[in-house]
Amino acid sequence: MSIRSWLFGAAFAAASALSVAAHAQGAPDGAAVYETRCKACHDGGNPRAPSRADLAQRAPADIVTALTSGIMQPMAQGLSGADKQAVAKFLTSAPADASAAAARPARPTGAEMPQVAVQGPSAPDPMCATNPPIVAGSSDWTKMGFDDASTRFQRHPGLTAADVPKLKVKWAFSMTGGGQPAVVGDWLWVTNRSGKFYALDAKTGCVHWSVNDLVSRTTPMIIKSAISPSGWATFVSQSDRIVRAFDAQTGKQLWKSEQLETHPVSVLTGTPMVAGDRLIVPISSIEEAAAMSKSYSCCTFRGSVAALDLKTGKLLWKTPMIDGPMKTIKEKDGGGKVQGPAGAAVWAAPTVDLKRGLVYAVTGDSYTDIDENGSDSIVALDLKTGKYRWRRQVTEKDNFVMGCGPTSASGNCPTPLGPDYDFGAAPVLFTLKNGKQVVMAGQKSGIMYGLNPDTGALLWKTIVGAGSALGGVEWGIGADDTYVYVPISDLALLFSPLTQSKAKAGIYALDPATGAIAWSAPAPNAPCVYASDKGKPSRCARAQPAAPAVMPGLVFEGGMDGWFRAYDSKTGKIVWEDSTTARTYDTVNGIKGQPGGGIDGMGATIAGGMVFITSGNNGAARVGSNGVNVLLAYSVDGK
Ligand code: HEC
Repeated sequence: MSIRSWLFGAAFAAASALSVAAHAQGAPDGAAVYETRCKACHDGGNPRAPSRADLAQRAPADIVTALTSGIMQPMAQGLSGADKQAVAKFLTSAPADASAAAARPARPTGAEMPQVAVQGPSAPDPMCATNPPIVAGSSDWTKMGFDDASTRFQRHPGLTAADVPKLKVKWAFSMTGGGQPAVVGDWLWVTNRSGKFYALDAKTGCVHWSVNDLVSRTTPMIIKSAISPSGWATFVSQSDRIVRAFDAQTGKQLWKSEQLETHPVSVLTGTPMVAGDRLIVPISSIEEAAAMSKSYSCCTFRGSVAALDLKTGKLLWKTPMIDGPMKTIKEKDGGGKVQGPAGAAVWAAPTVDLKRGLVYAVTGDSYTDIDENGSDSIVALDLKTGKYRWRRQVTEKDNFVMGCGPTSASGNCPTPLGPDYDFGAAPVLFTLKNGKQVVMAGQKSGIMYGLNPDTGALLWKTIVGAGSALGGVEWGIGADDTYVYVPISDLALLFSPLTQSKAKAGIYALDPATGAIAWSAPAPNAPCVYASDKGKPSRCARAQPAAPAVMPGLVFEGGMDGWFRAYDSKTGKIVWEDSTTARTYDTVNGIKGQPGGGIDGMGATIAGGMVFITSGNNGAARVGSNGVNVLLAYSVDGK
């Protein structure tokens, strides 16, 4: 079964019945809002949209936040505040099935729905007794990809490979859509999609401060800098296309950028990166999903990369990944028109090359029939000007939006439909033994590319995974001094008995000089039950879409089945594993019996002798998500 056949069933035909509930007499009817405005996507087996049962497990405030300032803002256009409250209440008080309700973790009392739209989780935060100053350790992880080259290689993990088999969960913290944390000394920063940006104590999980109006999935970037009174600053991209800088010690805002993109369905998914005196910001969209709606005239979004002044947040340049005039492709039945070229969203963090004065970015697919050369590409931009040094497209005519197939009624579908082979993993800049460098990038096709950083010329290309719309390579790759480590998802193939045998889910080590595969470790078929399945046949899959984390001698990688493993980096042998779904967690922020779920998204952080990973609900696929996820902090013997 292909991704297309999952998706066409969810064609969104009801959007023209705009805000039925909003127009009804008296109190808004949450069921009617759901029926007309949400159901087509959230009841339709769309692997990127959380199911209704998943939504039922969220705090109502999280749903309101998603509709107000989060990723569902465009889908909620025209809904009143009362409509949003009503649909949130409907979803959370009338679960789709009883077993989902039973799996819902117990929330502490005081979980009243907020009257103001934006508010964080319901439990009172466990505040730290003291807020000691941030002190740099010898083992910090300050940016998503660990270093400018995005290697995800922690050379000074604060524990040895021999310690790793003794890793146990020390603390757990529950949040909605929490991402990959950054760590400096005893401080940890993590964003989450319910609207809270947290600074926690890395050793205990208590809360130093939170910013309560910030919806994000990016990894906070931490730097030592005079722009901040404490000497430490952090930068976060919000879903609603604004970047904010804070004092990392106090949470006090330093600056807020202008809205970097005005397109209504644009979003900041990729983590921004500091490059000298500027911040490089990737800009993405969910127009692929909006295209499922018949009333939506697709496609007009173009991915871009922006540079901000680090001191002020002022926009210095913004380079679109697609150029050329917008053309009309066809008029739509019932009004509107289909336009293009569009697409080439940038949803991976950029990689910084200060020596060459370049930033490398990767792009997603094209959304329309019109040929263009910016999609599915690796590009090098001049850090100062934003001008292209080079660009290399690896897949042509990959024209894709969601919900297309024989019965699609959206009128937005390109023909033929492409395979959806985005790049979503930050490229790695690697120095070979002979001193030469190579830029490596992994695609959802399952193909790895090695390019000359000066010219973009292709040095090698290796087919690693079978590829699918959910990877192949999805969220990240990593490297030490010897190999590049390539996790393969192949999730879409794993779901069907017909294609399962083609899937090559697992982790692979490649020689960066030649692309030759040195070892491969297929993902084991291991027991997995998501708490939300309650004994029913599980949607667990052994896909490995998450970014890896590397330390001397070991590679950490998680699976959509919730297994978290450490592999010997010379041989691929598993030296430690833990099923994050085999138990539930009593979290430091007061949730009892919080389940984990699939491991997806940005992967682990290794710092100060600890390893941090988010279990559940942190990627694109939503499989194994329990609605809310849990940030797990592992230490040797849990001490
Ligand atoms: C056109 C399809 C579509 C429609 C209509 C739609 N959604 Fe979504 N929704 C999605 C997709 C796709 C995602 C996952 C997006 C992602 O994570 O990138 C999502 C995610 C969500 C999330 C999780 C957000 C987060 O940050 O984790 C919530 C909550 C949600 N939708 C609620 C709703 C509600 C309520 C409605 C109706 C008012 C609605 N959606 C209408 C497609 C849709």
